Amino acid sequence: MPVDGIKTVAVLGAGTMGNGIAHVFARAGYHVILRDVEQRYLDRAMETIGKNLDREVKKGKLTEADKPAVLARFRPVTDMAAIAAADFAVEAVPEKLEIKRSVLGEADRLLAPEAILASNTSSISVTALAALTSRPDRFVGMHFMNPVPVMVLVEVIRALQTSDQTFELTMELARKLGKTPVAVNDAPGFVSNRVLMPLINEAAYCVMEGVATPPAVDAVMKSGMNHPMGPLELADFIGLDVCVDILNVLHEGLGDPKYRACPLLKNYVAAGWLGRKSGRGFYSYSS
Ligand SMILES: NC(=O)c1ccc[n+]([C@@H]2O[C@H](COP(=O)([O-])OP(=O)(O)OC[C@H]3O[C@@H](n4cnc5c(N)ncnc54)[C@H](O)[C@@H]3O)[C@@H](O)[C@H]2O)c1
Repeated sequence: MPVDGIKTVAVLGAGTMGNGIAHVFARAGYHVILRDVEQRYLDRAMETIGKNLDREVKKGKLTEADKPAVLARFRPVTDMAAIAAADFAVEAVPEKLEIKRSVLGEADRLLAPEAILASNTSSISVTALAALTSRPDRFVGMHFMNPVPVMVLVEVIRALQTSDQTFELTMELARKLGKTPVAVNDAPGFVSNRVLMPLINEAAYCVMEGVATPPAVDAVMKSGMNHPMGPLELADFIGLDVCVDILNVLHEGLGDPKYRACPLLKNYVAAGWLGRKSGRGFYSYSS
């Protein structure tokens, strides 16, 4: 299928990533079937999308007149059967293999044979996910960054089985969304988390060993290395539990002790200090 043959996209999961992915497809002119398990998740997602579109209007990225047309391209559904009309589907359900297995299996049965199935997984092997479907050559990783409407990178991950055609089409599709796709082969953590997580982990070790305080570690990286956010601020934003989960994937998948999660990170998670979302991590967000 040529990239211009793609008119309708299904997004499976309307959470943090799903609503952002749906937003960028609809803004680029695609019809979007947004699927979640309950209506209240869809309502929440459409509310977030509305607010984010307003923000884009204020920034001049979109005109006020465009907004209703973008919203009209959405079809929020709880009925999975509705995704059968999609030419391309992106899965963004929780990072649990059992949930992915069930959702991808169902999507694979419902979608037309020529449709492409992509996963936004941040750490599960795309090769293993492709093998769960009857279309492994039409399966690809499409790793968007949070917040999706703002961040330009998409890591396009080629599973062992991904065909050249599927891969090239996905790269082109990401460009049509105004994103910058980067080609990456399937390996634990891809490039983004393979490079980022050891940085965050080492920053946590610096705090644990008393080398410097969190603001001092972040200040070094911001003013010395030109990072827009310090690694510990970023860890709080991502969620310390998510960081530990990804480090565990790197550790298990690559078998190298350098990826061992810092005990301080694990302790923070055990205490429920998960970062911004829980009000406390390396920093306090209570005010
Ligand atoms: N949050 C991030 O910063 C980030 C960044 C890159 C990639 N990812 C990846 O994106 C995926 C989604 O993460 P998220 O942060 O958006 O999670 P989330 O928990 O915010 O959203 C997941 C959504 O999927 C829905 N869901 C659950 N089962 C479903 C099903 N059977 N069918 C349809 N929807 C279902 C949930 O109700 C929820 O709304 C994960 O694979 C994650 O690793 C996350």
